[in-house]
Amino acid sequence: MTEQSLDDDLHVNECERCPALVDSRSRIVNGVGPTDADLVFVGEGPGATEDERGEPFVGRSGTVLDDALRDADLARSDVRITNCVKCRPPENRDPTAAELDNCRGYLAEELARVGPELVVTLGKVPSEHLLDESVAVTNRTGEVFDARVGGTSHRLLVCLHPAATLYDRSQATAFEETIRRAASLAGLSEGDPDGQSSLGDY
Ligand code: URA
Repeated sequence: MTEQSLDDDLHVNECERCPALVDSRSRIVNGVGPTDADLVFVGEGPGATEDERGEPFVGRSGTVLDDALRDADLARSDVRITNCVKCRPPENRDPTAAELDNCRGYLAEELARVGPELVVTLGKVPSEHLLDESVAVTNRTGEVFDARVGGTSHRLLVCLHPAATLYDRSQATAFEETIRRAASLAGLSEGDPDGQSSLGDY
């Protein structure tokens, strides 16, 4: 058994590994949602609204994600939502490689302890971080991979970042389709051939 650094709620309670993030954050923004969720969404890192409210994806991107979840017949409370880094980078810059590395163990432990059917990476930063290769997310949204995170294997679905649909409305359909596919792959949409239900379930 590996040493645990998250508490029973899978929260990081204190961390000072990244000096720039310690300076820029108001608080650590931990993942939310069931600790045994079948579906986990991984974003890049908290923005200003998330930093203020202490919850991932509660700003404009969060509204896009919530709408797409609803469209896939899921509630936000059905899934777990977390980020690669748990503290807000200054001026909304991307997290550095060192910051991603510093937070990697927390994410790996969170994913290992949740043990979801599917991990969905929202955007380029989490997709490249967890797949450890460069990913052209716009072309590859909806693709499924096997990824090893820490010592644990996960089934991973690449998805556009919800903010991409705010910059470019034409991406909205692909985003919504990928979220529906995620629900299906995680076995959360009823009677879907991609899902886990079998004829025996009917
Ligand atoms: N974007 C992210 O990647 N994560 C959040 O929590 C909010 C916006």
